This record gives sequence, structure tokens and C-alpha cells, in this order.
Amino acid sequence: MAKEDTVIQGDCIEVLAEELRRRNGKPFADLIFADPPFNIGYVYDKYDDKVEHDEYVRWTRQWMQACCEVLTEHGSFWVAIGDDYVAEVRIIGRALNLVMRNWIIWYYTFGQNTRKKFARSHTHIIYFVKNDKNFIFNDEVIRVPSARQTTYNDKRAHPKGKVPDDTWILRPAEMPEAFRADEDTWQFSRVCGTFKERAGFHGCQMPEKLLERIILVASNPGDLVLDPFSGSGTTGAAAAALGRRYLAIEISENYVRQSRTRLKASKTLF
Ligand SMILES: C[S@@+](CC[C@H](N)C(=O)[O-])C[C@H]1O[C@@H](n2cnc3c(N)ncnc32)[C@H](O)[C@@H]1O
Repeated sequence: MAKEDTVIQGDCIEVLAEELRRRNGKPFADLIFADPPFNIGYVYDKYDDKVEHDEYVRWTRQWMQACCEVLTEHGSFWVAIGDDYVAEVRIIGRALNLVMRNWIIWYYTFGQNTRKKFARSHTHIIYFVKNDKNFIFNDEVIRVPSARQTTYNDKRAHPKGKVPDDTWILRPAEMPEAFRADEDTWQFSRVCGTFKERAGFHGCQMPEKLLERIILVASNPGDLVLDPFSGSGTTGAAAAALGRRYLAIEISENYVRQSRTRLKASKTLF
């Protein structure tokens, strides 16, 4: 029986090869969300986030290939990546016969201040599928109010709203509590130090709401969600809260230990 609802400590390429062997080569991940280190010199517990360009691209190809091998035929593969390597991720995806369905921009507030250039306030999320004729896209559960509904009172409006655009900005009600007071800001913030959601041990923690949208639209209850770069355990937490199974992989023993503690309480987070 598959190892599920667990965080495995190790190198994702090795762990995925081992998991595939244990399942006799049968792909098992219905949805993969990967948020790798961006090679920007971020300080992680164990991983060195500043390697030679060619080495990083070679490694990206290797882990993306390992992910493709475990992705089911109807599965989707979402990669969060920064400006510096988004083009490479898109090209590697094509070389691996993945079909890109969207190039999403997650626009967030609380970008870092800069003096000599514009402050970065986005991350790319590339949404691939293996088979563009056979994939899960549960549009009904992720719809948002449309201008036809809210502004024009147009009878043609879909009663459940519209499928969100590919620039992701969540509504105030969907934002972390600490930010909701500012109703004028329709941004989907990064998880900052003061937010209740912040687990406190990982600097790159993603908002659970972001993962919630991806998991809701691209998987069904009971499906297996894989995160090869689990970090603080956000994907597992969102998957568990939404009734999906998860398999999370993380190289740092420290992050694994702390994310397991977080995940034990995950069902109470939503
Ligand atoms: C950007 S962070 C992920 C953050 C995560 N999305 C969250 O919300 O907490 C990337 C993580 O990948 C881990 N990592 C780096 N190389 C790895 C590898 N080869 N296998 C598994 N994890 C790795 C790092 O330790 C780091 O925690």
C-alpha cells in the first residue's frame, strides 16, 4: 500500500524513484505542486540556493522529469518559479511533453522594498498537464464574482461567477485575517511574520489559500497530491483540509520534523 499523508525526508529525485519502484512503476500522483528553491541565494536549513546556472538548469530538468514519471495520465503539474528561471521551466516542460495550460502570475503584497529597481511582487506558477484531452478542472468550485454580477447586473452572468483570471489576486475575505481590515486591498499577500497562519520555521511559506485553489480545481477528494519541495508543509496542510491524500518530500530533517507537527493540526486550519 502506498505511503500517504506523510512527509518523507530525503532528496526528491531519489525518493520519487523509490516510491515509483515500490508501486511497480505505476504513476501515482494526481496533482503535483512544486515550489523549488529559486537559485537566488535564499538561506535554507540544508540546501545551498546559489549554484552555477547550468547546474541549476540540469537539476531542474532532473527533478521535473522525476515528477513526470510519477504523474498519472490525467494529472497536472504546477511549478512555482521566479523570474530568473521561469523560461527554462517552460522549455523543460515542453521537452518532457507536458502541455502548458496556464502561465499564472501570483501577485502578492508585502514584496520587499527596493531603492534602485522596481520591487518584485509576483511569482510565476506554470500549470502543465500530461494530456490536454484528459485532466481535472473543477471550475465550479473556484469561481469568483464577475463584473457582470457585481457591476452590470447582467442576466447572462453565470450564477456562480467566473473562472478567475490568470493573474491571481484573492478577495479580502480570502486573505489572512491580519490583512482583512484593509478592504481596498484586493491582494493575495505572502505569508508574513505577523500572520496567524505563519508556522514560524520556514521563510518561504506559501499561503494555504493559494494551494486551496489549486487543489480544489485540479484534484478530487481522495486523490493524491504530491509536493517534492514541501518546506513548511503548506501543500500537505491544504490537501488534508480538503480531503485529499498527500505525499510531501523535504530534504531538511529540521523542516520535516516541524512540518509534521504542523500537519498534525492541519485539519483545523480552514
Ligand atoms: C521554496 S521552499 C518550499 C516552501 C513551501 N512551498 C512552503 O510553503 O513552505 C523549497 C524547499 O525545498 C527544499 N529542498 C531543496 N532541495 C531539495 C531536494 N533535492 N529534495 C527535497 N527538498 C528539497 C528546501 O529545503 C526548501 O524547504
